[in-house]
Parts: sequence; C-alpha cells; structure tokens
Amino acid sequence: MGKIEGIEIQNYGVLKHIVLGKTRTRQNERVLGNLVAIIGPSGNGKSTLADAFGFIADCLEIGVEAACDSNNRGGFERLVSQGATEPIRFELYYRESSNTRPITYELEIDLDQSGRPYVKMERLRQRLEKHGWPRSFMYLQNGSGYAFEGNDDGGQDDDGSITGKKIEVQLSDVRRPAIVTLGAMKQYDRIEKFLNFLRSWYLCYFSPDAARRLQTAAPQAYLDRIGSNINNVAQYMYRENRKDFEKVLAEIQSKLPGIEKIEPQRFENGQMMLRFYEQGFTQPFYSQRMSDGTLKLFAYYLLLHEKNPRQLVFIEEPENGLYHHYLGELAEEMRENVGKGFSKQLFVTTHSPFFVNSLGPDDVWVLTKGADGYSSVKRASEYTFVKELAEEGVTIGDMWYSKYFESTEE
Ligand SMILES: Nc1ncnc2c1ncn2[C@@H]1O[C@H](COP(=O)(O)OP(=O)(O)OP(=O)(O)O)[C@@H](O)[C@H]1O
Ligand SMILES: [Mg+2]
Repeated sequence: MGKIEGIEIQNYGVLKHIVLGKTRTRQNERVLGNLVAIIGPSGNGKSTLADAFGFIADCLEIGVEAACDSNNRGGFERLVSQGATEPIRFELYYRESSNTRPITYELEIDLDQSGRPYVKMERLRQRLEKHGWPRSFMYLQNGSGYAFEGNDDGGQDDDGSITGKKIEVQLSDVRRPAIVTLGAMKQYDRIEKFLNFLRSWYLCYFSPDAARRLQTAAPQAYLDRIGSNINNVAQYMYRENRKDFEKVLAEIQSKLPGIEKIEPQRFENGQMMLRFYEQGFTQPFYSQRMSDGTLKLFAYYLLLHEKNPRQLVFIEEPENGLYHHYLGELAEEMRENVGKGFSKQLFVTTHSPFFVNSLGPDDVWVLTKGADGYSSVKRASEYTFVKELAEEGVTIGDMWYSKYFESTEE
C-alpha cells in the first residue's frame, strides 16, 4: 500500500520543470489527493505527464536505454526537453501509510560519453525520527555508492554521519536502476517494498477492439494495458470468489445504461464469457457484441473493483468514446472508489468538462504552456477566481469551458 504525495519532473519533453504536491524541498505544499485529474489544452503536456509514469515503470522493467526508445519515445535526444543541458530527472515523494515516514526517490538519466542513456544518479532518503532531516539510505552516482540494510533505520546524513549498516555498492550495469538490483536482495527490505510499489503501477490504454479479441481460458488477476484480457480477469474474479463477483457485476450493471443483467457463462473448455442482457431483448449478447462505450465503462468499473488493487492507476482521457452524460457519474464513482486512505491512487488526464464538473478544485491540476514553450502546472484551487466562483456554485468544468484558466494571468 502507499501513494505518491508529490512528484517533481525535470527536462522531460514539454515538462521542463513541474512539481505536483508535496516534496522533500516543498514541505509546505499540500499532498496530492487520491484522485488527480490533469487538464489543459492540446500540446500542454498531459500525455507527457502520463508517459513520465510509464517511462519510470519502463526504466525498471527494461532499463533506461530501452525505455528511451520504446513506446514511440524516439530516444533520449528527442525525449529530453529541447534546449536542456541537465539530465532528465524525477523525484517521487512517497508514503506507505499515514504512520510511516515519507520516502524520497530521485532518479537522473543522462547520456554517457558514448552517447548512451544511463542512470547518472539515484537516491533514496527517509527521515530517521518523526522530525529531523531525511538521511540517504541508498545513493549512487555513475553506478557506485552505498545502500543501508534493514527495514526502517539506517542512513547517512549530509554531514557524513552514519546510523545503521552501510554497504558499499558497485553496479555492473549502469543502464538499470539500482533499486531493481538491490530490491531483489532480502537484506534491503525498504528498497524492496518501494520497488514493489513502483511495479504495481498500472497505465491503462483500454481499446474496445482488443477487449473483443477471442481470449484463451486462463484466469488473470489484472487487466493488461489495452484490456485484451477482460474475460480472463472476469474469470479470475469468478474463480476467486463467485459471490463477490456476482455482487460486483450487479453493481456494475446498475451503472451501465440499458443493461439489465450481466452474467458469467462458463464453457466446457474452462473459458468464461460475459453475457449482457439488454433492455428490450430476451437473449443476451456476449461481450464481443457490446458497444465500445459499454465495454469501456465495464472495463473501468471492473478496474475499480480489483480485489488487491494496483496502488497507482493512470488513465488517459477516459471520456474517449463515452457518451457525455455518463462522465459525471464515472468521475464520481472514481472519486468515491479511491477514498481517502492509502490503498489506491488514480491519475487521469481529460478534455471533458463534464467529467471535471464532478470533481472538486483540489482534485484538478491545470497545465499551462508558457511563452518559452514549456508547461507549468497549478492546482485549480490555487487560482484566486476559483474560490470565489466555487462559492457561487460554479463547477470547475464550467469555469474551464468558459476559458477562465486560460485567460487569467496569475
Ligand atoms: N523534447 C521536447 N522538448 C520540449 N517540448 C517537447 C519535446 N517533445 C515534445 N514537446 C512538446 O510537447 C507537446 C506534446 O505534448 P502532449 O502530447 O503531452 O500534449 P497533450 O496535453 O497530451 O495534448 P493532447 O490534448 O492533444 O493530447 C508537443 O506538442 C511538443 O510541443
Ligand atoms: Mg495527449
């Protein structure tokens, strides 16, 4: 469990330098909520922000060099902000639960002398006591440095003083973040836990066509990026706890307009298909015959009902292909579903004022492109006009539609 209370991104495409929420050096800022909606005109960096999360996940999975090339990123030179001379840099401010001390993770990626991307710097810090300065419990530059064993104490102060067991570390592969190597070793429990959090991220690019593909009969716990295993996930939920699953289906079905019932059907070969009973028809339809929007809504609701939910989910433009009257309810459902605790965090980018109208001024972040071509980001509640208008009952989506966020110089 855990969530990101703040993130800083530097030199990543149009995001030359942005900070969302609270970080190590911005302790007076408010933490990110469990639902973070990002709005802004085209080209202002919404997809770039979503991709920054994907990029971090890819760096862990396939290494930084391959991550720069994959997913149409086009290599380091096209990825790094134009004109930047510093490395691509991320800082995550992470907290596992309300009674644990936050962890700061820094990752810097640059080109080495032969022009290949590598991990230039990587650092993990945590405070030792409730108050006081955070101490580094892992710090590597160009593949060499140190890490501290153990679970919750141990670390090195900026003045060099040490608590706990410090181990010198030399990596043989500078294209792979150290947390991957060290997190695989039992003695670095803190690193392992943090790594598991990063690995549980889910970036959703649902495609109704993929969801219609014939799926083999294998239960799978989680939806894949494009939703091509929707029936497998349903099969898994059915196998794990049929009663629970039927409850989930009943709840989802109440949210899908025109659908009276959804029923799982098991075939002899073990495969499971979902049958949708539509208003006006006596015979059900299999999921392949359902409309794009229905499938998409179904996938989102299924995602919100995962048994052991992935801790961070990022959805780009959930409104695509959905009827605008469904969006308010979807946004409300998402907001309610993530709750206030540390079990789930949901990031969404959106172009839909209807979606945003169901959110509060603290949930929404606005990306604005400056005259230099780079974007900055600000919480909607921090615009002075928002407070006034919100008190008059104007919703955030309506303010956005009326171009308040674009025309106001603040
Ligand atoms: N290396 C770079 N340095 C600076 N800016 C870049 C770089 N690469 C791309 N860009 C800018 O980033 C923009 C892409 O932004 P992005 O795709 O994140 O926008 P978006 O908010 O998702 O837009 P849309 O609403 O159309 O999806 C491009 O239009 C380009 O101007
Ligand atoms: Mg985009």
